[in-house]
Amino acid sequence: MAGKAGSRKKKTAAAKPAAVKEADRIFAERLGRHHDELRWLYMELYGNDAMFAELCEQMKRYYDQRNAKLKKLDREREAAGAWYRKRDMLGMMLYIDNFAGNIRGVQEKLSYLEKCHVNYVHLMPFLDTPKGRSDGGYAVADFRKVRPDLGTMEDLAALAEQCHDRGISLCMDFVMNHTSEDHEWAKRARQGDGEYMSRYFFCADPAIPAEYEKTVPQVFPTTAPGNFTYLPQMGHFVLTTFYPYQWDLNYGNPRVFNEMMYNFLYLANQGMDIIRIDAVPYIWKQMGTNCRNLPQVHTIVRMMRMIGEIVCPGIVLLGEVVMEPDKVAPYFGTVEKPECHMLYNVTTMATTWNTVATRDARLLRKQMDIVCSLPREYTFLNYLRCHDDIGWGLDYGTLSSWGMREIPHKRFLNEYFQGKTEGSVSRGELYNEDPITQDARFCGTTASMCGVESAGFEQNAFMMEQAIRKDLMLHAYMFTQSGIPMLYSGDEVGQVNDYSYKEDPDKAPDSRYIHRGAFPWELADRIEEKGSVQEKIFAGLLRLEKIRAGEAVFGADAQVYTKDYSDDSILWIVRRSGEEELHAVFNFSDEGKTIWMPERAVYTDLVTGVTEEVETVELSGWDFLWMKKH
Ligand code: GLC
Repeated sequence: MAGKAGSRKKKTAAAKPAAVKEADRIFAERLGRHHDELRWLYMELYGNDAMFAELCEQMKRYYDQRNAKLKKLDREREAAGAWYRKRDMLGMMLYIDNFAGNIRGVQEKLSYLEKCHVNYVHLMPFLDTPKGRSDGGYAVADFRKVRPDLGTMEDLAALAEQCHDRGISLCMDFVMNHTSEDHEWAKRARQGDGEYMSRYFFCADPAIPAEYEKTVPQVFPTTAPGNFTYLPQMGHFVLTTFYPYQWDLNYGNPRVFNEMMYNFLYLANQGMDIIRIDAVPYIWKQMGTNCRNLPQVHTIVRMMRMIGEIVCPGIVLLGEVVMEPDKVAPYFGTVEKPECHMLYNVTTMATTWNTVATRDARLLRKQMDIVCSLPREYTFLNYLRCHDDIGWGLDYGTLSSWGMREIPHKRFLNEYFQGKTEGSVSRGELYNEDPITQDARFCGTTASMCGVESAGFEQNAFMMEQAIRKDLMLHAYMFTQSGIPMLYSGDEVGQVNDYSYKEDPDKAPDSRYIHRGAFPWELADRIEEKGSVQEKIFAGLLRLEKIRAGEAVFGADAQVYTKDYSDDSILWIVRRSGEEELHAVFNFSDEGKTIWMPERAVYTDLVTGVTEEVETVELSGWDFLWMKKH
């Protein structure tokens, strides 16, 4: 008997089943496509053959572990090309606990997300993180464990499967710049283990931090000043660009790179579709520089892209590059050697709010012209608000040529959005005011910044109408941009600022929690109630989403450009696809305007559905037009 079983076993080992052979062939082919470049870059950075061999071996291991359904999806997506550039792609970012308590709760709410037409869900950080030292989940203690109150890895994989069955993609954060001080590596480093200390940046000599501080700006100048943290028990400083409990990883050490890539592949194998690379510009440090956007960062992202394409090519890398305008697009890499698939359109977002405050669309137009001139393969994620502050990263070169200097202009914007300026209906709070540079950023929800909060407080129906109009116009503008629109959970029902964070000592110092409130299900219940604020916003958005999904001019390959118009508060965008031409006109002012169409012709107003010959159209303050030319 034993002999028989043994001989059968031998047989299977010698002749692999056809499916395994095919899988091996696919892997070998993908590896073959990238091997030389990957090896070249790896050796250039690390010069370590053994570690490169280990990386290749592990890639195969993660590929073998990837389940059949995901592998099938990979092949379909590979064949489809840029699968995520669909015209009906609509994202929403949400906190699992705020939205539905835990992962299983999210599963139960999938039909609500479908009702919102959302087919791409960004689950905000959910990995294990120490309470009270979490930076909203961006201080990860274990990359392979879900925060226990939210569920388990199995729950996550089950959610991903259910989402895939409904055509929904899932996005998660990959916080690769740092770990929590409670991460296993950090704990060992704290015990003085040199192997683990070399995974971070430690130094005993205070001259080193002092030297760094000369050239490295501060991310959290008020809530976490400085870039180093002194650990008295160790007698060492550790590099902490963000909060003191977030220890920066040393990517100069190939062990760090390899292990983090394995974590990335592990998470991809749970069924994640989009991996958001958190704080990516910061991952390489060098004394004497500002430690941002260094060339090695691009090498690492390029390697990560290739590793993804070898093991799990269905995955999309979304880079979080919140930097000044000219530093963002390089993270796409080149068309031949791409890095990130998608980037946040952060400059456009900040410039949009700048336009709301100044009622001057010139800078926004200039910004759009820059974005529109980039290769069409570059996909931006467009958004109005996210979980972070607005950093006012504008094109100050241009603004100063128009007589607006950076610090006074930022002050104006911050005063405006706090509602301190005559005529402003916005509400919100400052973030990380820096007494030295006098810089400050801003926090608040879209609805509060548009005036829904102040109108509600004053019970002023006229103001409310205007606030809703502004809110919908900004969303329509976001849908008109080239790229993928992303809603911030709660925006679809006009969720306003939540001041209760001030009562929680863990959150009180961080005003970003003002726009991270629990999802107001009681408001979501009112979306069917005709005439309610929630119904107007929800139904208004739905109308826009349907139009966008149904019209070819909103396709990813449409040509998008701006058009000159005599009035600075008007932003005019044209989208062209084949024979079709859309004229999208946005009125960034309180006053009604008469809009002169480029020529007297027949247009369909996509919002009202009316088709007629027009030469001029009356446009109310903060309203927009989507006119399709015939
Ligand atoms: C990213 C996140 C932000 C976090 C930081 C540090 O910028 O969006 O919320 O504080 O990274 O991880």
